[in-house]
Amino acid sequence: MSIVILTGAGISAESGLGTFRDKDGLWTRYDLEEVATPEGFARNPQLVVDFYNARRANCLAARPNAAHEALARLEAARPGEVVIVTQNVDDLHQRAGSQSVIQMHGALRSALCAACGHRWPAPDVMSLATACPSCGAARARPDVVWFGEIPYHMDEIADRVAACEIFVAIGTSGQVYPAAGLAAEARRAGAHCVELNLEASEISRVFHERRFGPASQVVPAWVETLLG
Ligand code: OAD
Repeated sequence: MSIVILTGAGISAESGLGTFRDKDGLWTRYDLEEVATPEGFARNPQLVVDFYNARRANCLAARPNAAHEALARLEAARPGEVVIVTQNVDDLHQRAGSQSVIQMHGALRSALCAACGHRWPAPDVMSLATACPSCGAARARPDVVWFGEIPYHMDEIADRVAACEIFVAIGTSGQVYPAAGLAAEARRAGAHCVELNLEASEISRVFHERRFGPASQVVPAWVETLLG
């Protein structure tokens, strides 16, 4: 049984990491044009690096919650059948023990050279002065996907979605494409589609089954049902 699990900020909310669009969400406090676009980075790179340094610090202080742990248990019980496609740039799935994780919007723990494309582990506090270990240019940027950029691993994600039998979306508002379009693709390909979210998302109609509540409750309950 092939299972694709798409996660969003809602799965990490109870670990203390803010979501984007809820009340008090990151995009109510920060201008996404300034901190999450290539143009914003060109205008004020220090502001952008500071924003992601603060998010990395939050992430380092956070712990996986019962929802991340339940997904790791599911993969352990069904080895080779489960892939997590996450929009999150935190590493809480990996720290909970999930092995098969695709980070389509990049990762806070990774740095990217804007000059040559080389990647290396980001320090806890990134600096614009950091020289690329490969080409030496001082063009380091957070290895995250900004608005206007193409998410990572889209070919592999499309293949997994086309081949899955169960597609589950957890804690995502369904407002950012292409991630938001994956449920409809899975449904077209014949998968059973499940939404686990605090409340109905923009794309709730696409799902065959919906369970609403905090991820720390609905995700373990869903995993238990699946594992019987
Ligand atoms: P959003 O902030 O848009 O949506 C968070 C979703 O999680 C909403 O549907 C909430 O109802 C739900 N939620 C909140 N608390 C929850 C909880 N305790 N349990 C379960 N669900 C909960 O976040 P995303 O959908 O992840 O991209 O946002 C998608 C992308 O937009 C992000 O990856 C980021 C952002 O801009 C980039 O920065 C490129």
